[in-house]
Amino acid sequence: MSDTNHSHSTHDAEEDVRNRDIKIYVNGDIVHRDEAKVSVYDSGFMLGDGMWEGMRLYNGKWAFFDEHMDRLYNSCKSVSIDIGLSKEELLEAMNRTAAANDMTEDAHCRLMITRGRKAKPFQHPGLSRFGPTIVIIVEHSKPKSSLHSTGIRLATVPQVRGLPMSQDAKYNSHSKLNCVIACLQAEQAGADEALMLDPNGFVNTTNACNFFIVRRGEVWTSTGDYCMNGVTRQKVIDLCRQDGIPVFEKNYSLYEAYGADEAFLTGTFGAQTPVASIDGKAIGTGERLVMARLQQLYKALVRENTAG
Ligand SMILES: Cc1ncc(COP(=O)(O)O)c(C=O)c1O
Repeated sequence: MSDTNHSHSTHDAEEDVRNRDIKIYVNGDIVHRDEAKVSVYDSGFMLGDGMWEGMRLYNGKWAFFDEHMDRLYNSCKSVSIDIGLSKEELLEAMNRTAAANDMTEDAHCRLMITRGRKAKPFQHPGLSRFGPTIVIIVEHSKPKSSLHSTGIRLATVPQVRGLPMSQDAKYNSHSKLNCVIACLQAEQAGADEALMLDPNGFVNTTNACNFFIVRRGEVWTSTGDYCMNGVTRQKVIDLCRQDGIPVFEKNYSLYEAYGADEAFLTGTFGAQTPVASIDGKAIGTGERLVMARLQQLYKALVRENTAG
């Protein structure tokens, strides 16, 4: 199979055998991954009733920790999940997990907070009577270099982003069924990931990352109304403004996306990942000068944010 046909996803990491023996935090205990378990009565397992954050470790520090905590605590407050720990206590738990695994760099954390174990296998949130379930998985994680050389192939899909009064896309909830369905549809169309539209047909986001295009030197992304309020998305917008790159949060259609000079995705894991094609149409010439500049600026910002 040629490299350009190679199928991958935005969260492909280089194989690392050390991940077979990592230690995982489960409600205060740090145990081998084979022993890390939650109840089948857990509301996260039963209903997707929980919130999570993905964060990366650089130089022994969690990049943009405060921004991730703001989103997490806001989400949990909105759905009345009491985390029961302060931000400082969560930081201590994450640091303890990283230290137990000897990690200071190239590590990715999935911090998960669910409404906790239920007394009975039914939906009512009041049945979660035992406090939240908190799990911290930190894996050795380096994005695959092929993501950057080849780029991601996107397909637009029938599944759309919802209105905020159904399930607000700003919730980083355990239930990602909307996104999972979109990803399946993209795979069935022969692409790596899904490009999702909003209820009005404007280009919105992908199933797992935020989406940007570059046209005639301008950076465009959706209004933000139907997508995850991505930490990386906001950093890229801020960096454009600081660097004098025109940036717009606006409605645009596939017409403008297909005809873009560059397109890229943003997310904590991959930072900025190039898009090779949308619906089989190659994006630009493959020269990605604006994205490359933003990658450089973002790298410097991460270093600054995680400096000793
Ligand atoms: C649907 C979706 N979009 C975008 C993102 C990227 O957000 P961030 O930049 O905060 O990692 C995520 C990450 O959780 C996501 O789940």
